Amino acid sequence: MHPTLNIAVKAARRAGQIINRASLDVDKLKVSVKQQSDFVTEVDKAAEAAIIEVLREAYPAYGILAEESGLSGGDSSEYQWIIDPLDGTTNFIHGVPQYAVSIGLAHKGVMTQAVVYDTNRNEIFTASKGGGAFVNDKRIRVAKRDKLDQALIGTGFPYRMFDHIDAYLDIFKDMARKTAGMRRPGAASLDLAWVACGRMDGFWELGLSPWDMAAGSLLITEAGGLVGDLSGEANYMQTGNIVGGNPKLFGQLLQIIAPHLNAKLPA
Ligand code: IPD
Ligand code: CA
Ligand code: CA
Repeated sequence: MHPTLNIAVKAARRAGQIINRASLDVDKLKVSVKQQSDFVTEVDKAAEAAIIEVLREAYPAYGILAEESGLSGGDSSEYQWIIDPLDGTTNFIHGVPQYAVSIGLAHKGVMTQAVVYDTNRNEIFTASKGGGAFVNDKRIRVAKRDKLDQALIGTGFPYRMFDHIDAYLDIFKDMARKTAGMRRPGAASLDLAWVACGRMDGFWELGLSPWDMAAGSLLITEAGGLVGDLSGEANYMQTGNIVGGNPKLFGQLLQIIAPHLNAKLPA
């Protein structure tokens, strides 16, 4: 394993211990609301602090973009860690066992290392640019299914920002008609990891943040899949709108979305 990835895995495991311990008694959690339906617990914050401590000790000059503490350190660095300490906080608060720790490393804006850690299943998804994608050290690849009507597609429903809810629901209707089904597991980083390992054939969501997508997008491309914004271009980290899938379905998903793009919903 690449030494930098090794450190990221160590950091994710450290966060995982904090999350697992807290999951034994979610009723005791202190939950604050950042904005509508945007929850944060002391677990999110403690997990993030633990991750940053491990990463900083090993790579003090690297920049950091983390969900709870924002930008810090090495602003001029070519390297940036992109961290979601607990992706799927709403699930976590409700005791729904579908959430993950997500850590990605970008070099000059290009993702080079990725870890998504599913603490419930004890599955660690990892990827290094050019080195393939793995779950618990076993090589993973995107699914081979090429027919939309056999494809299982992941998504995230809007629940916090409703600017694009009409466009979202229009796309949803078309997807529902044309695919074998849709799932909304509730942790975007893990959804992307599940596309990477072939459990889902594709994924799309609007309005994500960079820390939701950083690690998961590299997992998909290293597993032989494709990731893009709503028109298939590379701007998803900027727009927050992402589509991913195996190469056979990626274009077909974009075709479903294309008629719904307009000035209100750019790619
Ligand atoms: C959320 C989850 C969810 C997605 C949201 C994200 P959080 O992250 O990934 O699946 O639909 O858009 O914000 O807030 O639980 O870290
Ligand atoms: Ca998240
Ligand atoms: Ca989070």
